[in-house]
Amino acid sequence: MAEKSFHVAVAGATGAVGNQMIACLEERNFPLKSLKLLASARSVGKTLKFRGEAIPVEELKENSFSNVDIALFSAGGGTSLKFSPAAAKSGCVVIDNSSAWRMDPDIPLVVPEVNAHAIAQYKTKGIIANPNCSTIQMVVALNPIHRRYRIKRIVVSTYQAVSGTGQKAIVELLEQTRAFLENRSLEKKVYPHRIAFNCLPHIDVFLENGYTKEEMKMVNETRKIMEDESIAVTATTIRVPVIYSHSESINIETEEPISAADVRELLQDAPGVKVVDDPAANRYPMAIDAAGQDLTFVGRIRKDESIANGINMWVVADNIRKGAATNAVQIAEILGKNYL
Ligand code: A2P
Repeated sequence: MAEKSFHVAVAGATGAVGNQMIACLEERNFPLKSLKLLASARSVGKTLKFRGEAIPVEELKENSFSNVDIALFSAGGGTSLKFSPAAAKSGCVVIDNSSAWRMDPDIPLVVPEVNAHAIAQYKTKGIIANPNCSTIQMVVALNPIHRRYRIKRIVVSTYQAVSGTGQKAIVELLEQTRAFLENRSLEKKVYPHRIAFNCLPHIDVFLENGYTKEEMKMVNETRKIMEDESIAVTATTIRVPVIYSHSESINIETEEPISAADVRELLQDAPGVKVVDDPAANRYPMAIDAAGQDLTFVGRIRKDESIANGINMWVVADNIRKGAATNAVQIAEILGKNYL
């Protein structure tokens, strides 16, 4: 039997994540019948490279999806709310990278290494949500531990790259850095404060409870993906002057006794994880090494000596790849293979 192949569209193709979605489809040799690239009217006239061919960018419209099987969306929450229902109505399955649909009980929120089976629920609304980047790498690292030792509580602090805010934030970091080094005045267009040589304890909007929306995404999405509402999660999310890859300091408390050696051994064979943990040789996960990779890197694994069953670890992954584009394309692969 010939391999199945699909008409695919990328909405937000000119953005930081959209660009990587196109790269992932090419690298992973996704079975394509056609590829349609969509963005705002501003981008009409541009072309983007795919398999050596220049593909014209078209304007995203409600009727863009009539002959599309799978649409990968990364064009912001508002755009997704506006266009993905129309796309789903025309018979295509939307895999959406925005936060618009993630907590909808009728929409699966999927990290293939953790809950690939949830993809089956795509039929209710024709939409599958791709989780928040910081949450994806955290659950890839923690799910195997939860299944074996039952995690009761997670305390996480993040060090998040500017690419998570989009292409314009990468430009802002580079321009501010240049201006700072040349002793020129700095422009702030994307963030409320300078990001060059600074850390901002502020990602997404502040909520009434004093947390940011990014922090609450980590709390709520973790429970939904790991399918366990009993896990206590508390998060502090920080934007740092790094271009690619989020780093996370994660502390967990488990029900069952656990040692650093147990975690190292378990994660050695965990899907999508690579343990890099040799402090004597100065080896530990770093943003600069994770950039461009699809794995989640875990290191600095050590016992939390302040409690009975606790572990500290350092988890790093490329936020644009595993945290967004790769995860979405992995979902598309399973969807295409098992469900369409
Ligand atoms: P465009 O480049 O035409 O503005 P990033 O996250 O890197 O900022 O990228 C956002 C992506 O979403 C870009 O591809 C951008 O297209 C696209 N986008 C933003 N707003 C819209 C919109 N209203 N309609 C279609 N695409 C949009």
